[in-house]
Amino acid sequence: MRFERCGDDLVAWAPAKVNLFLEILGKRSDGYHELTTLMVAVNLYDTLTFSRNLTGQLSLSSSHPHLSTGSDNLVLKAARLLQQETQCNQGASIHLEKRIPMQGGLAGGSTDAAATLLALNQLWDLRLTRDEISVLCAKLGSDIAFFLHTPAAWCTGRGEVVESLHLGVTLWLVLLCPPLGVSTPEVYRQLQVPGQPRNGEKIRQSVEAGDIEQIAGSLYNRLEEVAERICPDLHRYQEWLRDQQPTGQLLSGSGSTLFALCGDQREAQTIAHKLRQEKVHKDAQIFVVRTLS
Ligand code: C5P
Repeated sequence: MRFERCGDDLVAWAPAKVNLFLEILGKRSDGYHELTTLMVAVNLYDTLTFSRNLTGQLSLSSSHPHLSTGSDNLVLKAARLLQQETQCNQGASIHLEKRIPMQGGLAGGSTDAAATLLALNQLWDLRLTRDEISVLCAKLGSDIAFFLHTPAAWCTGRGEVVESLHLGVTLWLVLLCPPLGVSTPEVYRQLQVPGQPRNGEKIRQSVEAGDIEQIAGSLYNRLEEVAERICPDLHRYQEWLRDQQPTGQLLSGSGSTLFALCGDQREAQTIAHKLRQEKVHKDAQIFVVRTLS
């Protein structure tokens, strides 16, 4: 997460994430699932511009025609929660430039919410600590607190218990974002909790050591099979990516974004070029990204 002052305004660069590992450990009594996941932040960003006002009013505009800018948007929920928790009577006009595909498993809404909490904490001079902001993140959603711990973290609980990880190497990825939205609650509803969950220790060590081949060999996402079942069209995109023979590949989160893990920048650019040249899936968005440092 990067912030820049622009006159009286504050601009936040909110990165997307991908999951290199995701395993489900059980179903909880509150309906959520206990999980372990390894997430990395990548340099595909939404940008949010915050202008302060003293009226207490909150407003949101967006570059995306299909994004709700009403009170159901996580950005406004985050701003309102911050006002309530701190009894702050300042307000803000917020503009969101949306680049992260929506319903894509890249946590676009979550990163915007984290950016909002951090930016308004600064702009309204609230002086909340990171731990206090973490608590607010967890109230808003499961994968929001991760964005306080980029570039890499090991997340447990329902995703909100976050431990920063050392990322031993910059990873180059190609994101393949099909025009298919997969509903996260639906994926979790249809999921069967595994009797013997996989252990993520190997990928965790490989990420810290910066061993790309080992990371590629340990990529795993328990939600992938369920997402494929709900959305059989996903299979075509998986095959299409597999044909490019990347070092590794996986679904991010509950989908629908697939990513290729590449040995280096050149491999990522070659794969993206080949994907873009094929006309069959021209409705998919393709991004070459790298992990943040
Ligand atoms: O917390 P968040 O709003 O991101 O979660 C979206 C939905 O995904 C939840 O309503 C729940 O159905 C499901 N979920 C879950 N277990 C988790 C995270 C999410 O069941 N650990």
